[in-house]
Parts: sequence; C-alpha cells; structure tokens
Amino acid sequence: MAQEIKLTDLIPQVVGAVNELKDTYGGFEVHDSLQADLGKVQSVLAELTERLDNNFPFFHPHYAGQMLKPPHPVAIAAYLATMMINPNNHSIDGGPATTIMEREVLRDMAKMFGYPEAFLGHLTWSGTTANLEALWIGREINPGKGIAHSKDSHYTHSRMSEVLNIESIGIRTDSLGRMDLNHLEEELRRGTIGTVVATLGTTGLGAIDPLADIIPLARKYGARVHVDTAYGGFFKLIENQLDPEGARHYAAISQSDSVVVDPHKHGLQPYGCGAVFFSDITVGRFYKHDSPYTYFASDELHFGEIQLECSRAGASAAALWATLKVFPLTEQGLGQVLLAGRNAAVKWHELLETSEVLAPYQKPELDIIAYLPRAESMTELDYLSHELFVRSTDVERKEQIHLATYVVNNEALSVRGFNLNPDADKARIMRSVLMKPEQENWVQNLHNHVEALTKEMIGEK
Ligand SMILES: Cc1ncc(COP(=O)(O)O)c(C=O)c1O
Repeated sequence: MAQEIKLTDLIPQVVGAVNELKDTYGGFEVHDSLQADLGKVQSVLAELTERLDNNFPFFHPHYAGQMLKPPHPVAIAAYLATMMINPNNHSIDGGPATTIMEREVLRDMAKMFGYPEAFLGHLTWSGTTANLEALWIGREINPGKGIAHSKDSHYTHSRMSEVLNIESIGIRTDSLGRMDLNHLEEELRRGTIGTVVATLGTTGLGAIDPLADIIPLARKYGARVHVDTAYGGFFKLIENQLDPEGARHYAAISQSDSVVVDPHKHGLQPYGCGAVFFSDITVGRFYKHDSPYTYFASDELHFGEIQLECSRAGASAAALWATLKVFPLTEQGLGQVLLAGRNAAVKWHELLETSEVLAPYQKPELDIIAYLPRAESMTELDYLSHELFVRSTDVERKEQIHLATYVVNNEALSVRGFNLNPDADKARIMRSVLMKPEQENWVQNLHNHVEALTKEMIGEK
C-alpha cells in the first residue's frame, strides 16, 4: 500500500546494511588523524543546520519560484548508502555495481525517448556538461559549422559555442515562445549551421520548440538535431496529456541525433545528475583517448571512455536507479508526479484568465506559468512585478509565497496582445515553476495570495 515515505525510516536500514557489508572485509581502527571529538562534530552539525535556515523553502508548495525542489527520500537514502563506499563511475574499476546500475537507468531513459537499443549515452554532473558534449560531437561531425537555437533557449548554448569556438545563432520565437521555423530556414539556407538545438521545455516559459517540423528542415540542409530537454524530458511520460501539438513534438524526439535530460530537475534526484544520449553509437569514436591509470577491471566499455568528465559519483547512478525502481518511467509511475504539476499550471492559467488584476502571459505548455499584474506602462509593470516578488515574502514564514520574476521586452509583450506604454524597453513579469506535485492542490491558495497583493498595490496608486 502506498504511504508517505520518511527519510528517518530509511536511514537506519541503509547505514546499518552498508556498515555490515564493510565489516565483511574485517574491521580496522580508524586512523588518529581522522578521529574527532563527538561533541565538537555535533556542534558543527548543529551550526550547519542553523545556517541552512538561510534558504528559501524549496520543499514547500508555497515555493512557486525557480526550478528547485528537494530529491525524494528514496534518492537520498540510496545516495547516502552508496556514498558510504563512494564508487566512481568513471571506470568499472571505480564502480562495478554502480556502472551496471547506470547502464540500466540509461537503457530505460533511452527507451522512454524511443532511441535505438544501440544508443550511446551516460549520466553527467549537469545539463550544461550534457549539452556541451552534444554540441561538441555536432562540431566534430560538421566541422567549421555553428549551431542554431531559439532566442529563448538556455544561455548554455551560446556560452558553450564560445567554448567550442563555433558560431551560435539565436532564432526568433513566436507568441508561445517557440522557435520560428521561417527564421530557422532562412539561417539554414546560408549553409553554416551544423546543429539545430530544439528545446522541449524552455527554462523561462516551458515552451516546446516544433521539433517534428525542425527535424525534416534540418535534414534538408544537412544539419544535426540536438534536443535539450534538460527540464522537460520526463514530460515524455505524459505526452498524451499535453496539447496535441506538444505531444507531436515529444513523439519526434526518437528521430533526433542527441538528447539531454536532467534527472536532477524532474527525476526526483539531488543535484549532480544530468544525462546525454546519442542515437548513433559510433559517435563514441570522438571520445577516444588513452588513460594509463584506469580501465583494468574489465574489457567492457567504461563510462570514462565515452564522457568528457573524469570522476563522477556512482552514488548518483544508484540514487536514480533506486528512484526509478519505485517510480518507474511510465505514465502511472513518475508520470503522475509530472502530471500533477502540469494540472497545477493549467488550473492557475484558468484562474489568471478571469482575474481583474492579473493576466497570463501565455498559455503554459508544461508546468511553468508566466503572468503579470495589469499595468499601463512598462515601468509600472516592472515596479508592480518587483513589488509582488518582494512583498509576497515580506510576512511571517507560514504566510510567505515565493515567486520568481522573468524579464521580457516590449515586442514579446505586444505579440501576446499586451500594448503597454513603451517607456522602457524591458520589464519584469512573474514566473512560477510548479514542479512539486502538491502544488496541484495549492494553486487556488497561491493565486488568491498573489491576487490580493496585486489589488492592494493597485489600491495604493
Ligand atoms: C533547458 C535547459 N537546458 C540546460 C540547463 C542547464 O542545466 P544545468 O543547470 O543542469 O547545468 C537548464 C537549467 O535550467 C535548462 O532549463
């Protein structure tokens, strides 16, 4: 029977079991240099937990700001258990058990995306490194050519192009924040683009680039297609619950050359867990290197042979492995976690549409919602948004609501039907990432708070 899983119930089991396992090699005295006064350790840890008070409540449904939430207790317990041994998935020598676990989770995630059985992939420390690898392989396959990504894509793409010394082109977006296909084709026609990056779940708005249409277009001009679903990848599990247009683009991931997803965003994992996949296993040739120190325990492929990073936490693979055993990559498994956040965004959008003082910036495609206080000018909009951001937390803790802001320009507002006095080029609006499933039942409360505050501010005018 399903019940709330508490970390305190799991920790004694894993710590005890790993200690028993260690004992099977025979006990030994811990070196003097590693011993410490228990009272001192406890007081340092007490200071630590006190200092952690200086945080925002990422774990609470009232935190509806950035992409932040704690991992599931299963992931924490599995991470802790594995960290007690601290395997390194760089090589099979460094982490035999966790290398196998990593292979298993990779196989499941590749299958989720519809990738071929013979794919190449591995976990990474971050979505940034995962994207860097995909862009690097793109550069090796199409040397001298650059990348095209939407102007709303994550800044990592233009930044990593600088690292790779290739050109990067920002493609215009439409009134839903999706890549404009006409502009993309204009740029492809110039013949200088080697890789098109499609983002499924943009960081700012959760927009879905039209991947199903980008793929034939890119192929026509000989470009590769890389999909950045660092944020949105696990929505693949509930693609049939998205708008049909969004579902069509999720279905096309299987046709892409590479895809990135971050289990540390929507996979219930602690930070330090991204993943990259290539549909063509032979791109492994670009990673070829010599290492006189590693790769002895097995002739099988070591992750270090097909990744740019060297050391990488085996605990990260173990945590993901355990989590996916409990919440499998199915609509009824992990999919339900994503569906709740998606429902929250749809519900909040409905509430915003009928509000007298707030308006939705655009229709949400995933679980990120952008909205704005109704204002007459850009400066007023910016002022009200900033005040909302500040005042929503300027009350006692239990009453606080934590939001985020998002910078937009005049043009982006006017294509969405907001014609404000253009007394400034840019203004902040509000943005909430509803990634905690509990928020499905909290949106009315969140909305009421934000609406009441906005009314109060408008009354001050
Ligand atoms: C779409 C997208 N790509 C890449 C990244 C970068 O990932 P990371 O923060 O794991 O390095 C993010 C982070 O928010 C993202 O949303």
